[in-house]
Amino acid sequence: MNDPIALARPEIRTLAAYEHASWESGFERLHANELPWRAITDHTLAGLNRYPEPHPAALAALLADLYGVLPQQALPCRGSDEAIDLVVRAFCAAGRDAVILCPPTFGMYAVATRVQGAAVVTIPLLRDKGFALDVDAIEARCARGDVKLIFLCTPNNPTGNALEPASVTRILHSSAGRALVVADEAYLEFAAADSLAPLIAQFPHLVVLRTLSKAFGLAGARIGTLIADVRLVSLLRNVLPPYAIAQPCIEAAQQALAPAQQRLARERVAAIVSERARLGAALRELPAVAHVWPSEANFLLVEFDDPAGALARLRKARLLVRDFRDRPGLERALRITVGSPEQNDRLVRSLAC
Ligand SMILES: Cc1ncc(COP(=O)(O)O)c(C=O)c1O
Repeated sequence: MNDPIALARPEIRTLAAYEHASWESGFERLHANELPWRAITDHTLAGLNRYPEPHPAALAALLADLYGVLPQQALPCRGSDEAIDLVVRAFCAAGRDAVILCPPTFGMYAVATRVQGAAVVTIPLLRDKGFALDVDAIEARCARGDVKLIFLCTPNNPTGNALEPASVTRILHSSAGRALVVADEAYLEFAAADSLAPLIAQFPHLVVLRTLSKAFGLAGARIGTLIADVRLVSLLRNVLPPYAIAQPCIEAAQQALAPAQQRLARERVAAIVSERARLGAALRELPAVAHVWPSEANFLLVEFDDPAGALARLRKARLLVRDFRDRPGLERALRITVGSPEQNDRLVRSLAC
């Protein structure tokens, strides 16, 4: 039987949620020990003297609508970073459980796992196959019984490729009843691939992570969404602290999700996708560049004959890129975020000279 709740830590399954002050409109709030006056500098709609809504329902509904899922399936978090931490804390017991990661991949999966005291099991992506998943190795390791979570990042950071849907489906089949599969879709808006979220109906042990940090340009507001089976969302809501999302961030996200702003976000994503192709083509022409990996995200993984020299030239041009030379298999690689056309031109010029 594939009951994802049964995989959670026993203490979490029986956890009583914190009883926050009731959230009702139409009353004077004399129940939460707040100050009755706003700060003079407070320009929010709701007032920063008030606690925000403990778990913001209207924001959850907007995010659910954006991602095409039920409102009860969407849990707003402080960025997907918090969602990653949340699933690890709720499902992995220190010193007992393990988490599968497929490097090179996003670093927070390993950090959250180590903070929790769970074991990090790495099953590297297959570089020779365009950084594809090693499904056989994942299945074999998962069969040993201690793996509670499998993190899959699609499109993957820093390699940029979207994972093969057939490989993900195989993993979903073989992990049912054993482990949760967490599909991090932080960059999905820049990809041709579809979200895996519709598969939750068939595979209730699938968790999908989305974020407003990338395509919506709200990295500073820290709004991520954990999408999962309704029962899983209820369980994880009890673990998330109440009032986690600050009022200015709730308001910023609600404004960014208005129809006109969503149209603008889609136009900007299209502009980045087109710049990604232009930048990739320009980089491939440069003698200093050994390889530009195909990307479905808003960055390019680029290999250089002399990565240290390339970094030095970019720094001289006051351009920061991400250095991945310490990661196995990426010894010559830098990750370059696709910027504005002007920024991209400047980057190419500085590498050409
Ligand atoms: C794959 C991936 N997941 C999650 C995040 C974190 O996103 P958020 O800003 O929503 O915490 C990042 C940030 O770079 C990322 O690359």
